[in-house]
Amino acid sequence: MPASKKERVFSGIQPSGNVHIGNYLGAIKRWVDEQDRFDNIFCIVDLHAITVPQDPKTLRNKIREVAALLLAAGINPQHSPVFVQSHISAHAELAWILNCITPMGWMERMIQYKEKSSANKERVSVGLFDYPALMAADILLYRTDLVPVGEDQQQHVELARDIAQRFNNTYGETFVLPKAVVPAQSSRIMGLDNPAKKMSKSSGGAKHAVSLLDSPKIIRAKIMSAATDSRNEIRFDATRPGIYNLLLIYEQFSARKRADIEREFSGKGYAELKNALADLLIRHLEPLQARYKELRSDERTIESIVRESAERIRPLAEKTLQTVKEKMGLG
Ligand code: AMP
Ligand code: TRP
Repeated sequence: MPASKKERVFSGIQPSGNVHIGNYLGAIKRWVDEQDRFDNIFCIVDLHAITVPQDPKTLRNKIREVAALLLAAGINPQHSPVFVQSHISAHAELAWILNCITPMGWMERMIQYKEKSSANKERVSVGLFDYPALMAADILLYRTDLVPVGEDQQQHVELARDIAQRFNNTYGETFVLPKAVVPAQSSRIMGLDNPAKKMSKSSGGAKHAVSLLDSPKIIRAKIMSAATDSRNEIRFDATRPGIYNLLLIYEQFSARKRADIEREFSGKGYAELKNALADLLIRHLEPLQARYKELRSDERTIESIVRESAERIRPLAEKTLQTVKEKMGLG
């Protein structure tokens, strides 16, 4: 099938916090495994990151770190461009235009904003409120069919679709209507310190998440201290969230059957499972970390990959933006 016949998939990832095994299993690994089936674009959304304060040096470094992690995990940038949002100014420009056709009431319904702003409404930035318009611009510029996101982002993708529909109704068929693709609940990885909370980049204590760049020693320490229960039976049982979470991670990294895993650990203690899981993670992350180190040993490599990716897709973004401007009578 020629590349143009494949469905276009657009994914965005924020260059903030530490990319963890939840991001890897829930997003990056899927992107890698499915990259031949789709026409993928991967965007490191630095303009989204600045909706909350960022230290400039840290931000610049994080952008390169996330790009290198995606490549080290196996994204092939020849097939699937990996670019930085702020390198293509059409994102900011279309976001402004979409702002002007989005009713305030739609934006006010966004749950994530309500949650993120509730503690400090007077001080959060206007950008944080408007974040979904920029996300809609990201998606709509590339005629995206599918947007793989976590549950928390589903509402934003639906908003992008509503905005696209509204534009099309007002100015004539212009945008492709995107659809969110949300992984099953069961694939969510929970925090090691608190299995009732989703593993997250931005919250949680020191033992909350295994980061993709953690050393073997730290990986083992985090897994060994993971919260479990006081029973002593190793089974896939969702009512015992701590042990269930460890088994889910084990299952996904080992790609083995549940029954097989339960058999292996039958009659064994939690410490044995934790040690085996630490071994497995260390073994899997080692090659990824080695590729990452190599990519980062010469900053020009990453720089040229993200720049070339942006050059390849810029014409598509500019074409969409141009059409939008013409239809609206701008310029
Ligand atoms: P975020 O860390 O929120 O920027 O998310 C980046 C990607 O990783 C999104 O596609 C999320 O759905 C996915 N993701 C984030 N946290 C988890 C988790 N705990 N388990 C599975 N997938 C996750
Ligand atoms: N808002 C997304 C998140 O926090 C990141 C993102 C920005 C995104 N633009 C996007 C995801 C476009 C998918 C498509 O995870």
